[in-house]
Amino acid sequence: MRSLALIGFMGSGKTSVGRELARRLGWPFVDTDELVERRAGRPIPEIFARDGEAAFRALEREAVREAARLRPAVIACGGGVPLDPANVQELRRTCRLVLLEADLPTVLARVGGGENRPLLRGDPEGRAQRLLVERTPRYREVADLAVDTSRLEVTAAAHRILEEVARLERRT
Ligand code: S3P
Repeated sequence: MRSLALIGFMGSGKTSVGRELARRLGWPFVDTDELVERRAGRPIPEIFARDGEAAFRALEREAVREAARLRPAVIACGGGVPLDPANVQELRRTCRLVLLEADLPTVLARVGGGENRPLLRGDPEGRAQRLLVERTPRYREVADLAVDTSRLEVTAAAHRILEEVARLERRT
């Protein structure tokens, strides 16, 4: 089976659902945000503040490359990963791209004040709304399958994804 790369907006459940999928499959779980922080030796808000977003994205590209080499694995991708065609190309080689979607109220409830999300800082609601509108078409364009997690528990979301992936496996 191909690895699973979870993509989608901040607060869509990539990390919690990803951990559950990894547990069920007995596969390692990796999070590109964690790989970035490990490489940089500091947390993401600090990378953005000190080095800027472009530096963060460069580290993120390396993290995606590193994560895609682990096979099989469940990879939780930072929300900006699919925006870079090089990342999508890299992930496609070894993974199915699973889009987790969530509506705006759910995203806001899950990210709280957005302290750890530099892109939401200052005005989480306004920024999240704008970015969701801007990014959703791209997420959908690259995804092999999509699941809306707004009203799903983590275990139910994982179950749904495994069913959908099994369906895809039978087809290809
Ligand atoms: C980002 C999402 C964050 C993190 C960074 C930028 C984005 O990851 O990579 O703050 O551009 O959407 P999560 O999606 O895991 O919150």
